[in-house]
Amino acid sequence: MTTALITGATAGIGAAFARRLAADGHNLVLVARDTKRLQEQATELHDRHGIEAEVLTADLSEEDGITAVEQRLADRTHPVDLLVNNAGFGNKGRFLEVPMADELTMLKVHCEAVLRLTAAAAQPMRERGRGGVVNVASVAAFVPRGTYGASKAWVVQFTQGAARDLAGTGVRLMALCPGFVRTEFHQRAGMGTDNIPGWMWLDADKLVAAALADLAKGKSLSIPDPRYKALMGVVKLTPRGLLGGLSSRTGRKYGPQ
Ligand SMILES: NC(=O)c1ccc[n+]([C@@H]2O[C@H](COP(=O)([O-])OP(=O)(O)OC[C@H]3O[C@@H](n4cnc5c(N)ncnc54)[C@H](OP(=O)(O)O)[C@@H]3O)[C@@H](O)[C@H]2O)c1
Repeated sequence: MTTALITGATAGIGAAFARRLAADGHNLVLVARDTKRLQEQATELHDRHGIEAEVLTADLSEEDGITAVEQRLADRTHPVDLLVNNAGFGNKGRFLEVPMADELTMLKVHCEAVLRLTAAAAQPMRERGRGGVVNVASVAAFVPRGTYGASKAWVVQFTQGAARDLAGTGVRLMALCPGFVRTEFHQRAGMGTDNIPGWMWLDADKLVAAALADLAKGKSLSIPDPRYKALMGVVKLTPRGLLGGLSSRTGRKYGPQ
């Protein structure tokens, strides 16, 4: 039986990964900050699918939290076969409206934690000659979209570069770039969503199914929906100035600070 470790497993896209991987018979290590929610989720997935689900409470914006997950990934007696670096969030506001401490927290969770956990997982995977890492980025990586988009652009560049470096070792790395997905993300970031057209919303379970199919095919970049594949084709042909105007308006309506 294989084991998957998912960060940000309690809600949205991470919870969809947990449901799907448990249904496929993988044991799980569930990582997030809310211990009670993690325990309820672990019990439910164990009861429903008969898999083992470990709970690892960790705040990936803190040194201790990243170290705890690194140590679990490095434990060669209980190997992790698939890592899903999914934990993430959006800050409430545009550039210069967000306190610098919050911008740095985003870099810690989206970039430093992803870098360190990928390394901690990939080292023993390379020794075993197999394993996979999915780093959840966003289509925001491809458009001028605040510091959030910049952090996700880093995830895409890092993941595809590392995938190239590890080619032939049996370790697969893939950046996953969803469009808008109905999760807790926008509410947590205090973002209004009424200016996001209905057709742009994706379903988390379908997204995960498509992502895992892309990983099995050996892709290093997954944009798992025909609508967004087409949209990203248009993005490549659109002048960046126009793109910045359109992209920075859609879905970035913030409530009171
Ligand atoms: N929703 C979208 O439209 C969308 C689009 C593209 C990309 N994404 C990306 O998809 C990923 C998942 O987002 P989502 O939409 O599923 O969001 P979500 O529903 O808000 O879930 C976020 C998850 O991350 C955990 N988390 C947040 N901060 C954390 C921290 N400091 N340490 C550990 N865990 C933390 C949360 O649990 P706790 O609060 O208990 O820690 C929760 O389990 C993110 O990387 C996001 O940037 C989302």
